[in-house]
Amino acid sequence: MNKRKLYYMLSPSLRRVVRRIYYLPIDIFESVTGKRDAITPPRGKIFIGSGDFLMQGERLLDILTQHGGLMPSHRVLDVGSGIGRVAIPLTKYLDAKGSYEGFDIVKAGVEWCQRRITPLHPNFQFRHIALKNDLYNLSTTAEARNFAFPYSDGEFDLVFLFSVFTHMLPEDVDNYLNQIERVLKKGGTCLATFFIHNEESQRLMAGNKGLQFNHDRGHYLLLDPRVKEANVAFKEPYLLQLFEKNQLAVERIHYGFWPGRDKNSCIDFQDTVVLKKQK
Ligand SMILES: C[S@@+](CC[C@H](N)C(=O)[O-])C[C@H]1O[C@@H](n2cnc3c(N)ncnc32)[C@H](O)[C@@H]1O
Repeated sequence: MNKRKLYYMLSPSLRRVVRRIYYLPIDIFESVTGKRDAITPPRGKIFIGSGDFLMQGERLLDILTQHGGLMPSHRVLDVGSGIGRVAIPLTKYLDAKGSYEGFDIVKAGVEWCQRRITPLHPNFQFRHIALKNDLYNLSTTAEARNFAFPYSDGEFDLVFLFSVFTHMLPEDVDNYLNQIERVLKKGGTCLATFFIHNEESQRLMAGNKGLQFNHDRGHYLLLDPRVKEANVAFKEPYLLQLFEKNQLAVERIHYGFWPGRDKNSCIDFQDTVVLKKQK
């Protein structure tokens, strides 16, 4: 059994405990030696994936400035803000006119950001929204498909979602796109990452050792049917239909290297979609 399968077999709360214990020695070391600043979470609390947390955050900020049209004065919404991976570098990028809202379904991540980021940067606000996700949160039955974002119409210049729609099922994504269109300003941008299934990614995936979306569910495919929301790939025609239905025009799709594309020709592992609210 591979490590990923083993990891998915644990409940979200057990996964958090295991991670905390595993990283405890290095977390204590980094805290005692001052190697980690007060705003950066200890490794054992980072539940959003592997890799260098700070470097990844800087890289995602670059994607927002280079491909999402982010400006220092923008008002931005980070859907699925995790434990502040993008918020932290953004605190140095947004100016006094700029502001940030983030929400997430994992309370511990939101509370970290509320305690560590907001007191230093009051223009950064975080909310916990209790919604069910079979990878991240099983403590509620409330569903993302019924959730109305707690923001006004036309508030944001940019809404972004890094590795969030890859953990959501079609009706939930449909509702979120509808909400995103509502809260965006006219001419505003949504930058979101997906796993997009098309003929090319199917062909590449089959000849590659990476992620294998082998469980076809109609409009989408799953990596692991026992933990559906662990990884979801959407079929491209269906996704394009969802964007059109929600009046978000596709400006650009940057295909990622997840199925085996050349890394140097991609901006990210996942596929990055840039959408515009035109009317
Ligand atoms: C791979 S992590 C990425 C976190 C963050 N976007 C980043 O790049 O660091 C996926 C995040 O999506 C959040 N999430 C999953 N379903 C969600 C939903 N319906 N609404 C908001 N956030 C959700 C998870 O709690 C988790 O923090």
